[in-house]
Parts: sequence; structure tokens; C-alpha cells
Amino acid sequence: MDFDIKAYRAALGSFPTGVAVVTASAAGQPVGITVNSFTSVSLDPPLVLWCMDRRSSRHVLFASAPSFTINILGTEHKAVSARLARAGEHSLEGIALIPTELGPPALADSLAVFECAREQVVEAGDHTILIGRVLRFSRHSKSAPLVYFSGKYSALAQGKPPEGVGGRRVTDES
Ligand SMILES: Cc1cc2nc3c(=O)[nH]c(=O)nc-3n(C[C@H](O)[C@H](O)[C@H](O)COP(=O)(O)O)c2cc1C
Repeated sequence: MDFDIKAYRAALGSFPTGVAVVTASAAGQPVGITVNSFTSVSLDPPLVLWCMDRRSSRHVLFASAPSFTINILGTEHKAVSARLARAGEHSLEGIALIPTELGPPALADSLAVFECAREQVVEAGDHTILIGRVLRFSRHSKSAPLVYFSGKYSALAQGKPPEGVGGRRVTDES
């Protein structure tokens, strides 16, 4: 099948996702990248993955990092997300960080933080799948998650779910 790449990307964008920043340490300096390919793989053992474009200038750095920290972003992180998605922009200078036990720092006020040791690296087409073993995790903020949908930043609708849709309000305490 011949793909119209633009239409294909637009179709993939119909799947709403959260947004995360992955941090790693390069020559003692923390670096970051905005991703929406994060997903949980296994509960036991606790494995997660994210995918990295092999054409990225940060590819070698992240694919070879022995550990990385995944930060789930809230709506207040929109500017940080946009910054760390800019070509060549991977410095965390000026971004509020908190230290972690494994090394790569966490972004302050993340909804959740997963400290990972690189478990497996799988080459898949033009991306590399980075599977991490979660060694530590924490939940910090209960603010609204940053959402990415159809090529744009978005947020979850607050309030009562639509008729016929179960679930809790995003503002509910868990
Ligand atoms: C919402 C969003 C999600 C993204 N998700 C990914 C991702 O999962 N994997 C990836 O390699 N790049 C992803 N990117 C692109 C990178 O953040 C960044 O734009 C790209 O790596 C820039 O090129 P460079 O690394 O060569 O500087 C995403 C960008 C945005 C805005």
C-alpha cells in the first residue's frame, strides 16, 4: 500500500496521548526531549518504553544512556514541552528540576516520575524503542495532564463525563 505520509501522520494524530519529557545525563550535563510515545509495557517486572527517532541529533545520547527519567507533564509544562521539542534544544538550563536517586533529574511539578535503567534497545524502522526497567517512581502533582491531539496541545475536559461514559472526573481524588 502506498502511503500518503502526511495523511498517515494526521491519522496517527487522532490518537490522543499524554506528553512526557525524558531526561538523561550527557557528560555530567542533564538533557531532555519531549515525547508522546511513552507507554507501560509490563507490571512484573515493571517495564516501560518510549520511541526515539533515529534521525534525532539526540539519538546517540539517549539510546546509549544507561539510565533515564520519564516525567509526565501537566498543562503548566506546555512551554517546557515546546522548548524541548525544538530542533537541537536539549539543555535543561533554567528549567525547575529536582534531583533523583538514579541521576537524571526530574522536572519539578511532574504528575509522575519514573526512574529507569535501560533494559533493552530495539531497532524498529526509523525509530529505536527504548525499554526501561522502572527502579523508582513517584507521584507528585495532581494537576491536569498535558495532552497532545491532532498535532496540538490540549487538555482533558473538566467536569462530568459525557452521557454513557463511565469513569471519574479528572478532578476526583484517588
Ligand atoms: C508532543 C510531541 C511529542 C513528541 N514525541 C516524540 C517521540 O516520542 N519520539 C521522538 O523521537 N521525538 C518526539 N518528538 C520530537 C522531539 O521532541 C524533537 O522535536 C525532535 O527530537 C527534534 O529534533 P532533534 O532531536 O534532532 O533536535 C515529539 C515532539 C512533540 C512536540
